[in-house]
Amino acid sequence: AGLSAVNVMAADDGGDTITVGFSQVGAESDWRTANTESMKSTFSEENGYELIFDDAQQKQENQLTAIRNFIQQEVDYIVLAPVTETGWDTVLQEAKDAGIPVIIVDRMVDVSDDSLYTAWVGSNFKLEGQKAMAWLDAYLEAKGRGDEEINLVDIQGTIGASAQIGRTEGFDEAVEAHDNWTTLAQQSGEFTQAKGQEVMESILKQSGDDIDVVYCENDNEAFGAIDAIKAAGYEVGGEEGQILVMSFDTTNAGLTQTLSGEITCDTECNPLHGPRVEEIIQKLEAGEDVDKQAYVDEVAFAADDTVTKVTIDGTDYDITPITQEIID
Ligand code: AHR
Repeated sequence: AGLSAVNVMAADDGGDTITVGFSQVGAESDWRTANTESMKSTFSEENGYELIFDDAQQKQENQLTAIRNFIQQEVDYIVLAPVTETGWDTVLQEAKDAGIPVIIVDRMVDVSDDSLYTAWVGSNFKLEGQKAMAWLDAYLEAKGRGDEEINLVDIQGTIGASAQIGRTEGFDEAVEAHDNWTTLAQQSGEFTQAKGQEVMESILKQSGDDIDVVYCENDNEAFGAIDAIKAAGYEVGGEEGQILVMSFDTTNAGLTQTLSGEITCDTECNPLHGPRVEEIIQKLEAGEDVDKQAYVDEVAFAADDTVTKVTIDGTDYDITPITQEIID
């Protein structure tokens, strides 16, 4: 209740319009485009908001500048989708000193004092990685390849971003748990299609014949990696002798490539955060308490029905075989 009281005071400018400064990571992926669209359509004039949108082009220094501009402009709320987890303490302290509530969305911040932000809503990135790797384990087992030597490549996201940290942790822990799994290469594709393709091309040159699995930390990297794999003369898919590609996000294009079998498993990362952030703001406006941290429920899709369920720490998660109806 104390938190909410502070926030209501900060947001009370005597007018009806609520001004929101949103510092967005960039436009690196299809997921990000959908996320921006969700925020812009939610925080529209018709809905009673003035949205000040800033695209940081994947650079933290641009986000720091944007937040300082929002403070100068005396916005009612600052919404931050942080590019990386660390490096936010000073600027968030400045926002707190100015009495402006900060809502963190999508990726997380790693700050020494939790009171530097009001609420966070986003994905459980580690769980996403764990689900994907549990699917891989069960899939290889079901295909009679449980005891085979398996060589894996991890095309990571932007280093230091929660989405990279969690998905890489899920990957690393699963590889460590299998004596017959080996990480051949682990390199950042910066969550972009171009970099995913470039990184995959160079890994293929070194060890193309040995690769069994490519774990891409988002769909755009997977699109680039698939292009590189096919251009190098290899086949993508879930059968022995093919390179099995895994991905995250479940964008429309990602699920379409899952349906065609080029991506064998695509784990959801939900981008539609606009209404979730608005709910937080409306609760704060009404003087109600908000959850400090809230995870979004997410699912996973596979190219076929070889594995339809995985269990992590005693909890079952469905893996849904993709169909055209789901994509539509
Ligand atoms: O933080 C979410 C991640 O960021 C998405 O997986 C990726 O596509 C985006 O760039």
